[in-house]
Amino acid sequence: MRIFLDTANVEEIASGVKMGVVSGVTTNPSLVSKEGCTSYKELVQKICKVTPGDVSVEVIEEDTRGMLTQARQIARWADNVVVKVPSTAAGLEATSNLKQEGIRVNMTLCFSVNQAVLAALAGAAYVSPFVGRLDDIGEDGMALVGDIVDIFNNYAFETRVLAASIRHPQHVLQALRYGAHVITMPYKVLTQMTKHPLTDTGIERFLSDWRSTGSAFS
Ligand code: E4P
Repeated sequence: MRIFLDTANVEEIASGVKMGVVSGVTTNPSLVSKEGCTSYKELVQKICKVTPGDVSVEVIEEDTRGMLTQARQIARWADNVVVKVPSTAAGLEATSNLKQEGIRVNMTLCFSVNQAVLAALAGAAYVSPFVGRLDDIGEDGMALVGDIVDIFNNYAFETRVLAASIRHPQHVLQALRYGAHVITMPYKVLTQMTKHPLTDTGIERFLSDWRSTGSAFS
């Protein structure tokens, strides 16, 4: 499985990559807007430079023609770009065309198994079920991830299930249990995953016991 960071912040990405655990990134227009950039292309190129693996970059068009035009441009911005396209009928048409052109697509804003299966049939490299947003409306977002993984296994679909809209470490644990191929998370959740109070108190105790020995290190 792989961990991606869900951010457009270059410093956060560089920090996650340095830990050796982050291999990719997902962005979206809302995340990009927080970075206050003047050029989408320049920001994406900076992100792609510090990221060892795939970087999902979303189109900002709703019709197939517009999506295709933007997707072809985005695909030229960096070798590790994956174009993000919404899970709509227009998005499916764009995805199947892009697949034929050798451009990889992440079908985003997926909220049902049916949308995910269509994404796989259209040839998407990734499909992104949004867990937190389903939880927000009283549904079980993680159950959707589990269903998609099971159904994709039934048919040996190659599309990777990318659990998105992850809000806390328990979401990560559940996504792992359900066998999500990729989990994309905010930097805050990655940081939370590294922490345990018993680790902190254990370090304190070991260090104070060591200091009490008065020994030299070598
Ligand atoms: C995924 O690709 C999306 O960028 C993201 O996970 C959305 O998460 P949110 O629901 O927290 O905005």
